Amino acid sequence: MSAPAAVLAGLGTHVPRRVVTNDDLTRSLDTSDEWIVQRTGIRQRHWSDPGVATSDLAVEAGHRALKSAQVDAPGDIGLLVVATSTPDRQVPATAPEVAARLGLGTVAALDVGAGCSGFVYALATASAALVAGHAERVLVIGAETFRPYLDPADRTTAVIFGDGAGAVVLRRGTTDEAGALLGFDLGSDGTLHDLVVIPGNGSRPRSTDRALAPEDQYLRMNGREVFPHAVRRMAQSSSAVLATAGWDLDQVDHVVGHQANLRILYALARQLGVDPERVVTHLEQVGNTSAASIPLALADAAAQDRFRLGDRLLLTSFGAGLTWGSAVLTWPGTTPA
Ligand code: UT7
Repeated sequence: MSAPAAVLAGLGTHVPRRVVTNDDLTRSLDTSDEWIVQRTGIRQRHWSDPGVATSDLAVEAGHRALKSAQVDAPGDIGLLVVATSTPDRQVPATAPEVAARLGLGTVAALDVGAGCSGFVYALATASAALVAGHAERVLVIGAETFRPYLDPADRTTAVIFGDGAGAVVLRRGTTDEAGALLGFDLGSDGTLHDLVVIPGNGSRPRSTDRALAPEDQYLRMNGREVFPHAVRRMAQSSSAVLATAGWDLDQVDHVVGHQANLRILYALARQLGVDPERVVTHLEQVGNTSAASIPLALADAAAQDRFRLGDRLLLTSFGAGLTWGSAVLTWPGTTPA
C-alpha cells in the first residue's frame, strides 16, 4: 500500500577545479602512488584554493540540484539541511548563509554534523520533515572543505581526504514512486569519538587554559582501528535497513557506500555477500569527501548511465563519531546537473 515518502527529484554536484594527484603528493610526503592506490584505491582528489570555504562548494552543488529538479521559485524549498564536518565557522551554522546565497529566502536551515555519515543523517532528517508535512520540498547538501584541516606533514590523512559537494532535492511523494526513500537505519558509538578527530575545535579544548598548538587544528585519524568498525557497522546497518524495507540483498541493484577506501567497500561486499560489480566506486577520482561522498558517487554513476529507472539502491555510510547510517531508495531516472 502506498504511503507518504520523500522522493528524490534532483541531484547536483561540484568539486573544486584543482586536481591533486598521488604523484603530486609524493613531492612533499614520504608516500607513493603505489601505496595510496593499493591501500585505498584513491588516484587523485580535488582541493579548494585558499579563500574557498564549504559554503562556496555547497552553493554551487545546491544551484545544480535545484536546476536538475527544475525548481525555479525559491519559495518552493521549505527546508535546507547542510551535512558537513567542515562548516565555514563554528557559529553560525553554514546552512543559513547557503540558503541566502541560493535565494531561498527565510527558509528553515540547519547543519547536520555526523562525520562521513552526515549525508545519510541529513536525508533522514529531510525525509522525516517531508513525511510529517513540514515541507513540500527539501534541499539536502553534503559539503566539505578538508584541505585546511590536513596536516601537510601527515601522510596518513593528507593522501585520503578531498573537497567537494553533492546536493539532492527531495519532494513529498509516495512510496510507490520511483525515487522514493523507503527506509533508514542510523546509529553511533561515541565511546570511540577519539578515533577521527580535530582536537583543537570546539568547547572541549577551549574549556582549559592550555594554549592550543597549531597542530591541534588538523584532522587526526587512527585509520587502522577505524577500518574494521567501518566494515562491520556498514554491514550491520545495511542488513537492518533492508529488513525495514522488506528487501532481500539479491534485490539490491547497486550498493553506494561511503567512499573512504576501496578495500573497505569490497570487504563490505564480501561480508554482505554482494557481487563487487554491484558496488559503486568513485573515490578513485575524488578521495574521501566525507559528507559529500555519497551524492558525488550517485551523480558519477548516474552520469555514466549505470542506473536504470526503478533500480534498487542501498546507501550506507560510516564516519567520525563514530556514526553510521544507511538508506534504501529506488532510482528516479534523475539526470544530475
Ligand atoms: O571516512 C571516515 C572513516 N574513515 C575510514 O573509514 C578510514 C578507514 N581506514 C583506512 O582506510 C585505512 O586504515 C588507511 C587507508 C587510512 C590506512 O591504510 P592501512 O592499510 O590501515 O595502513 P596502516 O595505517 O596500517 O599503515 C601501514 C603502514 C604503516 O607503516 P608501518 O608501521 O607498517 O611501518 C604506516 O606508517 O603504512 C604506513 N603508511 C604509509 N606509507 C606510505 C601510512 N600512510 C602511508 C602513506 N604512504 N600515505
